Amino acid sequence: MLARFMPKVSAGRPAYKSIVSKRYSSIISVHRDTEANNQNTPFEFNSENLKRSEEIIAKYPPQYKKGAVMPLLDLGQRQLGFTSISVMNYVAKLLDMPPMRVYEVATFYTMYNRQPMGKYNLQVCTTTPCQLCGSDGIMKAVQDHLKIKPGQTTPDKLFTLQEVECLGACVNAPMLAVNDDYHEDLTPEATVEILKQLQAGKEPKIGPIGRESCEPFSGPKVLLGDEPTNIANYTRADL
Ligand code: FES
Repeated sequence: MLARFMPKVSAGRPAYKSIVSKRYSSIISVHRDTEANNQNTPFEFNSENLKRSEEIIAKYPPQYKKGAVMPLLDLGQRQLGFTSISVMNYVAKLLDMPPMRVYEVATFYTMYNRQPMGKYNLQVCTTTPCQLCGSDGIMKAVQDHLKIKPGQTTPDKLFTLQEVECLGACVNAPMLAVNDDYHEDLTPEATVEILKQLQAGKEPKIGPIGRESCEPFSGPKVLLGDEPTNIANYTRADL
């Protein structure tokens, strides 16, 4: 049975094709020096973020200030637009950490974007609950409309597309995150409409479509009485 999945080493080249997913997973984390992302690109926090970083570091005991590595990387990414190698080196210096320890964190978590991003970071969740509710259609709608694949940025630098694991909005699946905002209960048509609004410089409504929060589409099922339940009717008087 296992032999089905083993690469055949014929003609000097393993036949990996049959076991390799055709879908890109995320933007590659391995660092390669580029013009926009290299060791010599200067980076330091602006005065506002420097003050914020001092507040964050102060939350940790001095001997454990490296615990602040994740919020500081996030701060650097928000300032620059992505987590460049100079952001990582700067954070390492600020926290007295070996740069490699910071690289390990930044390359493990997909929230850190290691390459320059478009203005809008589109993250389509394709984990099981979203997939069962139609995330394949959402992904196709984005790709068809923007003509990019996961890991790519549109030529106008407006959108970068990523395929991601669960973003914690499964009860409102399928969903798409645009930067820090969630769009939920999506259909392919609603997704394209959101993209069109972003392209027009508008701010599409965030959150679920067709319901207030994550209540059942078919209406409330519990706590239906007009009056709140009087707990005294159901408990002993002496309690
Ligand atoms: S599975 Fe998509 S948000 Fe959880």
